[in-house]
Parts: sequence; C-alpha cells; structure tokens
Amino acid sequence: MIHKWLHYFPVYERYLGRYRWKRLTMLEIGVAHGGSLQMWRAYFGPRARIVGADINPRVASLAERGIPLEVGDQSDRAFLQRLIDRHGPFDVILDDGSHLPAHQIASITHLWSALAEGGTYIVEDLHTNYWPSFDGGPGRPDTFMAWLAERIDDMHAFHGRVPGHDVNDWTRTVDAVHVHDSMVVLEKRTRSRPVDRMTGRPTFEELEGLKADKVIDAEHRAQMDRARTLGGRVRRTMSDPVRAAESVARRVRRALRPRG
Ligand SMILES: C[S@@+](CC[C@H](N)C(=O)[O-])C[C@H]1O[C@@H](n2cnc3c(N)ncnc32)[C@H](O)[C@@H]1O
Repeated sequence: MIHKWLHYFPVYERYLGRYRWKRLTMLEIGVAHGGSLQMWRAYFGPRARIVGADINPRVASLAERGIPLEVGDQSDRAFLQRLIDRHGPFDVILDDGSHLPAHQIASITHLWSALAEGGTYIVEDLHTNYWPSFDGGPGRPDTFMAWLAERIDDMHAFHGRVPGHDVNDWTRTVDAVHVHDSMVVLEKRTRSRPVDRMTGRPTFEELEGLKADKVIDAEHRAQMDRARTLGGRVRRTMSDPVRAAESVARRVRRALRPRG
C-alpha cells in the first residue's frame, strides 16, 4: 500500500524526473507498508537503490533486492549517522516520517552533509506544520517552515549587511528552495560569492540617486567601452544590411574570379 497526496506526483516529476534510469541512491524516511519504496524502484529503474528507514521494527521484513531497510528514529543522530555510514551519500532524500517539526529539522540538519552534490531533499506533508496536534501553527518559531525561513536568510548571506548575517555552510550549499503545497524541495549545489556586471551605456546621468561614475567602476567602464566599440561595428553593418550583403558578395566574387 502507498499513501501519497495526488498533487505530489507532478512535483516529483518536476524535481526527480532527471534521475530516472540512472544509478542513484534514495533514502525515504517513513516506510509504513512499503508501497512507496516499490513505487520509487519502479519509477527510477533497476539501477536505483531505495533505502527505507522507519521507527517501526516490522518494516525490516519488507527488505528486498535494491531496497534495504533500516529501523530507527529519525530524530536520533546516532541512527542518522548509521544510515549515512551504511548507505550514503544520497542523491535524493525524502522525509515522509513522523511529520513532527523537531524531527524534520533534526533529520535535515544531520543528513544534509550526506546529500550528494546536485542532490535533492524533499520534506512532505508539511501542512502538519500548521496543526497544533503536530507541534505546529502558523507563525510558530519552532516549525520546519520557520527553520526553512532561516535557511533562506542564509542563502542570501553573501549579500549580508548586518552583524550576524554571515556566510555559513547553508549559504555555500543551498542552491534553491522550492515551496509547494505541503511540500518543500531543497536542491544542493556548491555556491560561491555571486558576481555582477554592468554593460551597455547609462541612459541617465544619475542612476538611482547616485552619479553613474560611483556605481560604475573602472573595470565596468572599460567593459562598457569595449561593448560600445563592438556595438558600433555591428550597428554599421546592420544599418544597411543590403549594402553589407552586396559588399560580401563582391568580395566572394573577387576571390572566385579566375586569375590570369
Ligand atoms: C506517512 S507514513 C509513510 C508513508 C509511506 N512513505 C507511503 O508513501 O506510503 C509515516 C511513517 O513514518 C514512521 N515514523 C513515525 N515516526 C518516526 C520516527 N521518529 N522515525 C522514523 N520513522 C517514523 C511511521 O512508523 C510510518 O510508517
């Protein structure tokens, strides 16, 4: 038996479709009756290894070829480390376990380092983060969603301008965060300090209240000059394409003319 919300399927396809038929290791936390593990194996193909983890010891009997099972608590660091040691690194991690915010946070915090470069981490059934019966509620500071907001702050720490907004491991490794109904997808990729460039000619003397010269440094200025020279050459050719084509044709005819 599998239990999934129907609107998850296009989201899976969107973020996981690229892994199909490839060699991959996926970790799914939360096994229940084992149906989703079989679904992943069928979806990804025979080269996929789907590791299931669940607190309920009965799931151990569901292990089969390509689907190893581990029994333990997703909030227990020692268990998470055992998962990493035995099966990591993971290309995909899917948290469909207890749905308790403290557990979701403990799992991602410990497992993130074992997510492969370019890997995908999905946490699902996040509507429970808004339910008091699951230690949730809108605006509560201790939910997974609140934790995620801090990671989004971290993602922007390369641009930080206040004390404490410093670059950390999340800044360097969270490439993207996608929020869907009840589902969050984090993509991992090594990032370095972003770089920006200006090109083209300023339209106005003043740019957002600053003199253009203050925001366009010497390097940008040189780059703009190069672009202008090149642009002038392109413009001259493009201003009269018929003449440009005739000139090319003349040169080709000259080159092909029999000599002597
Ligand atoms: C929603 S079910 C999983 C459904 C399954 N992935 C599917 O799609 O059919 C949640 C599972 O998480 C397990 N679980 C609950 N608390 C857990 C914990 N602290 N650590 C690991 N697994 C837990 C439960 O035993 C249950 O099997």
